[in-house]
Amino acid sequence: MGRDKKLIIGNWKMNLTIHESSMLAHRLEKLVRARHDVEVVLAPSFLALQSIALQINHRQFKLAAQNLYWRDSGAYTGEVSASQLHGLVQYAIIGHSERRHIFSENEKEIRLKVQAAIRNHIRPVLCVGETAIEKADGETREVVNEQLTSGLANITSEEVDRVVIAYEPVWAIGTGSFAPTKDVEAVIKMIRGQLSHLFGEESSNRAVILYGGSVSPENATDYLATPGVDGLLIGGMSFNVHAFSDVIKAAHRSSSKELSQRGDS
Ligand code: PGA
Repeated sequence: MGRDKKLIIGNWKMNLTIHESSMLAHRLEKLVRARHDVEVVLAPSFLALQSIALQINHRQFKLAAQNLYWRDSGAYTGEVSASQLHGLVQYAIIGHSERRHIFSENEKEIRLKVQAAIRNHIRPVLCVGETAIEKADGETREVVNEQLTSGLANITSEEVDRVVIAYEPVWAIGTGSFAPTKDVEAVIKMIRGQLSHLFGEESSNRAVILYGGSVSPENATDYLATPGVDGLLIGGMSFNVHAFSDVIKAAHRSSSKELSQRGDS
């Protein structure tokens, strides 16, 4: 998908049993209409992926893995590879701040994971964002540019069209303190600038960039109206069926508004 659709990804993290995941998907199926202007992606745990894949209408929902391992197979106990996920998911979240900070994932691993996803026809959702300390030290630009440059280092300008970037300030994730829209706009502009520097202006203009961090039905409309923001990566609110479906409705409204402003409908 390109920038003509809003992309809404719900990251269920390490929550819900297989049965609860299936129930949630079932309830969402009833509440959320398949729309041509919004792509809704569910990221349940690895455990629940297979059953949800069998259950959902694939026109209504796509699936994402929350992580993957970069080697295709071998003696890597506890890991799941991109080649094992191939055909099951369309997206994979890579370099989420919880992976970077709790599991000490480094830039090299993240880069290899981005490549592994591309190699296996899975769209990587590369997460970037500064910590509270980095923000206080005025290092947001430097940190985000470094994460982008490093994460995309081995990607060609054809492949970069498959990558989704999620700007998620670490201090805003799961905290309820979300980033002011004007700050998000500035960082996303900078991300496009860096993408243009690395891959050219056309790739940068085509890049799908999400915001994530304490998104709720109350602030979703504002983020979706923020210039440069093509969608949202949602944690806590994505396994609240009503909150998540309200965010999806907000994305549909925002998409329709943009289309009518452009005179397309
Ligand atoms: P949150 O999480 O919406 O709960 O802040 C966002 C994320 O982790 O991607």
